[in-house]
Amino acid sequence: MQFKRSDFPDGFLFGTATSSYQIEGHRFGGAGETHWDTFARTPGNVVKAENGDRACDHYHRYEEDLDLVAAVGFDCYRFSTSWARVLPEGRGTPNAEGLDFYDRLTDAMLERGLKPCATLYHWELPSPLADLGGWRNRDIAGWFGEFAQVIMGRIGDRMYSVAPINEPWCVGWLSHFMGHHAPGLRDIRATARAMHHVLLAHGTAIQALRGLGLGNLGAVFNFEWPTPVDGSEVAQAAAQRYDGYYNRFFLGGVFKGAYPDSVMEGLGPHMPAGWQDDFATITAPVDWCGLNYYTRKIIAPNNEPWPSLDEVDGPLPKTEMGWEIYPEGLYRFLKRTAEEYTGDLPLIVTENGMAAPDRIEGGRIEDTDRIDYLNAHVAMVQKALAEGVPVHGYFIWSLLDNYEWALGYDKRFGLVHVDFDSLQRTPKASYEALKLALTR
Ligand code: FCB
Repeated sequence: MQFKRSDFPDGFLFGTATSSYQIEGHRFGGAGETHWDTFARTPGNVVKAENGDRACDHYHRYEEDLDLVAAVGFDCYRFSTSWARVLPEGRGTPNAEGLDFYDRLTDAMLERGLKPCATLYHWELPSPLADLGGWRNRDIAGWFGEFAQVIMGRIGDRMYSVAPINEPWCVGWLSHFMGHHAPGLRDIRATARAMHHVLLAHGTAIQALRGLGLGNLGAVFNFEWPTPVDGSEVAQAAAQRYDGYYNRFFLGGVFKGAYPDSVMEGLGPHMPAGWQDDFATITAPVDWCGLNYYTRKIIAPNNEPWPSLDEVDGPLPKTEMGWEIYPEGLYRFLKRTAEEYTGDLPLIVTENGMAAPDRIEGGRIEDTDRIDYLNAHVAMVQKALAEGVPVHGYFIWSLLDNYEWALGYDKRFGLVHVDFDSLQRTPKASYEALKLALTR
């Protein structure tokens, strides 16, 4: 690596991130069915119709996996808690095995000197709640608040930080407008409701967690830097619309108590009644803001209904996901978020990383592409820090190769390779390089 721990301010946190459905093995331990299980079982939604039934079997191998996290010298481990593992029906009676699992997992982090950084929801909605409309139903805010209380009532006393929802854009737009993720809808009314309710649920959970006496609460958003396809005014306006519904909608809601006009042009007519009255909850104060960053998008205008734009192919080198590598975007988002939304509030890069082909040759995985990617992005964190942006941490997605949602097990993001037949873990060269950079 081109960086080392001592290049960073004292107390700067390094970590790695995972999520429950992507690694645990959902069929173990009495978890209830989720909308990802049935989405994956519906032909055409997921590559090879793969699902999270077994995943990395982290449910049984978490000690070995946490040993891997600790051995790098990471300070933090960002994990998520499965709603359906804790509450198989989404509400009501908790699954004791599920609560026990997160209890053991927490203690195993602490035993290894890792700071537990929890995300309450990383996309696996219990099916009984999906049946009631899921994120389209305003009641989800209350259901989610109850889940927050149940899970953090059990492990909250040992958490370093907690964020309610991973990437509201994916919950709202990707899943209800583009239809790429569960529940796979393509409907603007469903989108408007999901986009708003996900923030209402975020704020409701923050209030519930404060009620339990928890601190260091945050919000985690994903960002893509919008680049107009050319210098025309129409292309710039299209990129602005993309910026609006991808990036600014969520920051605006949580930190300004308002949604961008460019988004309301399209979603306004489809918003749920009384949405303007929800900002008191949505703006419940948080202690930090998390940024997940991977890429940029080139945006071209089209003549279809709002948002009247296409994402078009760009010229930069790409990862296995087909995502352009654009490290400057991370710097620009850190700077812009602090300047326009969060001021002195700590910013944390809660996800950054890349999918690569990662072949095992002679027992080794030489993922120099990933090492380059991480170096280039960490340099942008350093640039932002040098300009006074209050960045407090950097987390790599992901510890393990895992279930990459609609792309199944084909896309490998891990610092550690997983053989999905034998489930054997093999650290990649990037893992070894990080160990040299981060060990104290
Ligand atoms: C993020 C998700 C994570 C993973 C990475 C590649 O959007 O939070 O689960 O899929 O992308």
